[in-house]
Amino acid sequence: MEHYTPEILISDDEIAARIEALGNQITKDFENQEVVVICVLKGSYVFCADLIRKIQLPLRLEFVACSSYGESMSSSGNVHIDLDVTGSIENQNVIIVEDIVDTGLTIKTLLETFKLRRPKSLKLASLLYKPSRLKYSIDIDYLAFEIEDKFVIGYGLDYAGRYRELPYIGILNAGH
Ligand code: IMP
Repeated sequence: MEHYTPEILISDDEIAARIEALGNQITKDFENQEVVVICVLKGSYVFCADLIRKIQLPLRLEFVACSSYGESMSSSGNVHIDLDVTGSIENQNVIIVEDIVDTGLTIKTLLETFKLRRPKSLKLASLLYKPSRLKYSIDIDYLAFEIEDKFVIGYGLDYAGRYRELPYIGILNAGH
């Protein structure tokens, strides 16, 4: 298979600097409290791994996995939770960590689902946000970068299961 080098949209240094700032902000906001971080698989695992190491608080990590996109570049319109958290989040400070808020459908579904479980607080951290594509009203409490309507890959984000290993966020051009 031919090796493809995408155009860099956000470099690894820029990502690291933003994550450090977000980690510091979360540490300050939840001073002297414990947080439960919910990593939304698969796309946010790299972001989440870096972010939790910049949060100086007692922390419990959970994972969820949802399906909505399959192998296409547009949403299928519904979200199924394929893997749920294993522990209770009742009366806990919960931070959901998402890779990208695109139409907002995935995160809307997750926020509604977790709200029903009565957490003490429920916040959202997202690596990326595409405002031009948003269909639902979503408040992102901790956002790393707002981007234009381009399909991006790398730093955990994939196209058809590939490119997650890239250390930067790149733009996927047609034909790849
Ligand atoms: P939403 O439900 O439309 O907000 O889509 C969220 C999910 O779609 C993300 O968690 C990603 O997995 C995927 N997604 C949306 N845009 C992109 C992109 O530009 N690159 C890679 N995945 C994307």
